[in-house]
This record gives sequence, structure tokens and C-alpha cells, in this order.
Amino acid sequence: MFFRVYDEGAVLCSRAGRSRPAAAGARWRGPHGTPGREVHLLVRGIGLLKRLAILPIVGTLLAGAALGQAAEKLAPYYPTPEKIVEQMLKLGELKPGEKMFDLGSGDGRIVIMAAKKFRADATGVEFDEDLWRQSENRIESLGLESRARIIHGDLMKQDYRSADLLTVYLLPGSNDKLRPLLEKQLKKGARIVAHDFEFAGWTPETTKYIEDDGQGRSHTLYLYRR
Ligand SMILES: C[S@@+](CC[C@H](N)C(=O)[O-])C[C@H]1O[C@@H](n2cnc3c(N)ncnc32)[C@H](O)[C@@H]1O
Repeated sequence: MFFRVYDEGAVLCSRAGRSRPAAAGARWRGPHGTPGREVHLLVRGIGLLKRLAILPIVGTLLAGAALGQAAEKLAPYYPTPEKIVEQMLKLGELKPGEKMFDLGSGDGRIVIMAAKKFRADATGVEFDEDLWRQSENRIESLGLESRARIIHGDLMKQDYRSADLLTVYLLPGSNDKLRPLLEKQLKKGARIVAHDFEFAGWTPETTKYIEDDGQGRSHTLYLYRR
């Protein structure tokens, strides 16, 4: 039985389409994904527990724990193409030894490139256990542990005060939720590079539009400086 929770992302993830510059209220575009099946299995699993009347209280408690106490899913997993990762880090002017964080780090590709190619001190935050494990394993297999790591946790509950650069690829509403935390924590001069979705209320210093990433998909990158 699955107790992984996919909510908004599962629905949004099924809307495939071509990218275009993001605007306030823009919708997430993603590939057809499997999360919907997991939701189905979750619901079926809970239903079965109830129907069989086997420990209904335990079933309810487990479901409540899975649904109620998990970190909020601020975007589905939808990786940034490697070519765009490099553009994000260049736009963010990442230098050797600087501290960077990728908020919702997926398979760790941004953190890994930041540590390997830009020789930065790179930290990812990822709440999905499989992605966290996968990215940690890759960091270890590349021997990058001294410069790269992934925190298994909620990106809304971390300390970014030391950050020189943050990279963010989250839904527009999630950027709205994150903004007060960053305004409170980030030091003066810290940079933020947002992929495809702007931070409403902030004015980007630079906006970079990439017409085609080689796979027919366009991207927009926004550079902010505190
Ligand atoms: C669009 S993907 C971006 C992955 C990666 N940053 C990249 O650009 O390739 C968003 C990621 O954020 C993660 N995520 C969503 N909500 C989160 C939360 N509250 N805490 C930590 N990670 C979260 C998802 O699991 C997913 O891997």
C-alpha cells in the first residue's frame, strides 16, 4: 500500500504542453506522470482497510498522518534540462566556494553541477525520499560529498541565511508562500534564480528567455538580487 501523497502536482503533472514565459497565475506544464496512480492506490488502500473493518482506527490514523502532517508539496517533480541548469548557474554568477541552495532539488542535478562544474558549496532540499536517496547516492558515487549534500526535509523549514545563490523551480503560488521566508532570511546581495515562474512583487534584475532547449521546449529564467 502507498502512503505517499501526491496532490495538486499529480493533476498539474498530467497537463503536457509547450513552455512559454511565465506570468502571474501561469500553470505548471509537466509530462504525463505516474503520481495519479499512486493517489488511486492510496485511496484504494484506505478504502480496503475501512471495508474490511480491520483496525479502522489504525487505518484512519495512518491516513491522517500521511495526509495531514506531510510537508506541503510545492511542485511536482519535473527536472530542469542539464543545459538549462548550466544557464541558471551562469545567470546566478555562481563562483567557486560560494554557498548555493536548490529548493526542491529533485534528482540533485543542480546541486551536482554547482559542486562539480562551478566548484561551489552546494546544498539541495528535497522531501521526496526516493529522490533524496537517489541524489545522495549520486553525490557519493561522484565523490562530491565535501562540496555537495541533500537535506531530506521541507524546503519551507530551512535556514538560508548563509546563501549566496538560491535556485528555485516551483509553482507560482509556491513562490508566493516562499517569498516572505526569503525576505526575512536572505542576506543583502544574495541572488535568486527562478526557473519559468516569477516571484510576484519582486522585480527581476535580468530575465533570460531561451527559445529552444534542444528538445523544443522554451524556458524563462529570472535573476533577483536582495
Ligand atoms: C520542479 S521539481 C525541480 C527539481 C530540481 N530543482 C530541478 O530543477 O531539476 C520540484 C521539486 O520540489 C520538490 N518539493 C516540492 N515541495 C517540497 C517541499 N515542501 N520540500 C522539499 N521539496 C519539495 C519536489 O519533490 C520536486 O522534486
